[in-house]
Amino acid sequence: MSTDSRPPLFGPSFDADPYPAYDWLRRNEPVTRVPLPGCDAWLVTRYEDAVATLTHPSLSKDPASASPEWRAAALGLPLDHRSSLARHMLNVDGEDHSRLRRLVSATFTPRRMEELRARAQEITDSLLDRLDDPDRPEADLIAGLAYPLPITIICDLLGVPEENRATFHHHASVIDSAAASQVEDIARATDGLETFLSDLVAFKRTNPGDDLLTELVRRSNQGEIHPDELTSTAFLLLIAGHETTVALIGNGIFTLLRHPEQMAAVRADPALLPDVIDEMLRFDGPVRNATWRFPTEPVVIGGQEMVPGDSILVSLLAANRDPAVFDDPDTFSPGRIGEPHLAFGRGPHYCVGAALAKVEAEVAIGTVLRRFPDLAPAADPEGLTWWPSTIMRGLFSLPVRLRA
Ligand code: HEM
Repeated sequence: MSTDSRPPLFGPSFDADPYPAYDWLRRNEPVTRVPLPGCDAWLVTRYEDAVATLTHPSLSKDPASASPEWRAAALGLPLDHRSSLARHMLNVDGEDHSRLRRLVSATFTPRRMEELRARAQEITDSLLDRLDDPDRPEADLIAGLAYPLPITIICDLLGVPEENRATFHHHASVIDSAAASQVEDIARATDGLETFLSDLVAFKRTNPGDDLLTELVRRSNQGEIHPDELTSTAFLLLIAGHETTVALIGNGIFTLLRHPEQMAAVRADPALLPDVIDEMLRFDGPVRNATWRFPTEPVVIGGQEMVPGDSILVSLLAANRDPAVFDDPDTFSPGRIGEPHLAFGRGPHYCVGAALAKVEAEVAIGTVLRRFPDLAPAADPEGLTWWPSTIMRGLFSLPVRLRA
């Protein structure tokens, strides 16, 4: 046990590079209490404990199992348990979870996602055409590519009509960019999305299409999904389906810019790209902490007892750098063999959209590398600003020089 004190777990320098603090926690306080706005929580940082937590049958995802303090602190946030947008698969356990997950997983098969590769390429090409201006050699790859690509794909999948997308973009961007402290802004945008999605579901009832929302409306007519579960599922897919992938593309290109030898290797052999992206997910993934878990009975993780009323976060970033599992964990080293990383979670709530996210990242990052052989950072990497989020890790902007 080290005698030095715990490094800060909040603030811009932690957001910019949280890994030294996670290393300290893993070594000294692997399962620890952290203060969060409104309530304390457990934070789990070692890989083995992370897997135990993510797969534990007595750790519920249902906010009804949370303490009154946690629920008061969560009011107004997008995952607000009272909201009619909160009845989605990430907030339920058991049979209800399996039912809601089954309804969408048929759409997210790896085969179906491969079919979306061509569409992702078409969108990427047109976004990069817009950025590729000889008079403006610099561009922001978040605003110009990483943000619009996933949002367009998920809107396509769900069947959000073109003319309504600007409204969705507006509400989603408030939720994406607001700090957790801007509760009122988030609540307003969440209300806006709730109205937007209810109107969209009503539209699909009378104007069915070949899309996931129409399929969910059909299942709702057959009594398989409650109307609130339907809008909540659409909300979850829209939010989970784009913020995360924005961060994978952004963090991924950021990582490559800092590892020019790996960038050269994957340019020379594009078949390396899937391994490079898998390592990006481990090395600096988009999800800082998996979403909340609540004990339904006393549970011991990493020697600490957690009891009903406690709330638990699992640090995926810390677990993915655990030296007990990954050799030389702070080195970006594509092609690792051994235990898989936890960037998409583990257990019953493992990411539904993992295959889609990988296709989008392969297309976006692969095309940037092909089209811009002289790609270089246009700002000091230390000066970039990271989202101040409890759950996510991503950059607000990524300025690059596209041409020499
Ligand atoms: C769940 C990560 C992209 C939809 C999760 C979880 C993680 C994750 C860690 C588990 C959370 C937990 O256990 O608390 C990621 C990452 C992505 C990504 C890193 C991109 C790189 C997507 C996409 C979609 C999606 C593109 C959909 C279009 C979902 C859904 C769940 C989920 C619906 C809930 C699954 C359940 O509760 O059974 N994701 N995700 N994700 N993800 Fe993703």
